[in-house]
Amino acid sequence: RHEREILPRHGMQAGIAMADICCGIGDFAVLAHKEFKPARIVALDHSVASLEYARKVAADFDIRDIEYTYGDASQMLLEDNQFDLVTCRHSLQIFNRPDILLKELYRICKPGGRVYITNEKNSHCLGEPRAASIQWTYNEVATLFAHFDMDVEM
Ligand SMILES: C[S@@+](CC[C@H](N)C(=O)[O-])C[C@H]1O[C@@H](n2cnc3c(N)ncnc32)[C@H](O)[C@@H]1O
Repeated sequence: RHEREILPRHGMQAGIAMADICCGIGDFAVLAHKEFKPARIVALDHSVASLEYARKVAADFDIRDIEYTYGDASQMLLEDNQFDLVTCRHSLQIFNRPDILLKELYRICKPGGRVYITNEKNSHCLGEPRAASIQWTYNEVATLFAHFDMDVEM
């Protein structure tokens, strides 16, 4: 629900070209398609099983406009500068070289477009303290990023 508000602030709207990298079973691509009506959605993953499932769901719901694509997110065969919005949700933490993934996300994004990343961090499950100093640091980082017109939620 909160992404419904965040994404339009960064260019999500009808008619854009977007890519969802590490799309998994394609649920976000379907929701984006339903909610915002982009003109083009490319959804890429390296899991053949997930892509097959995503294609089946899209077919079952008669959604034809999502291009499910097999590929390695750290070396994509997609051309430079072609998407207004590049999303990559809950996947950065998997990569042992997240910098390479980030470069790829930026590479396929048009100049002036936006890259949207969400990340999972499980250390809180192991008891990371919610210390005031940690919260303060998060807030400072969010304030700094806001200065550059970026949204950060932690
Ligand atoms: C935790 S899932 C997140 C899926 C989806 N984005 C979501 O929000 O539900 C991570 C996904 O990254 C994909 N993935 C991991 N490494 C990848 C790589 N090198 N290239 C492409 N996809 C990759 C996995 O197959 C998996 O679908």
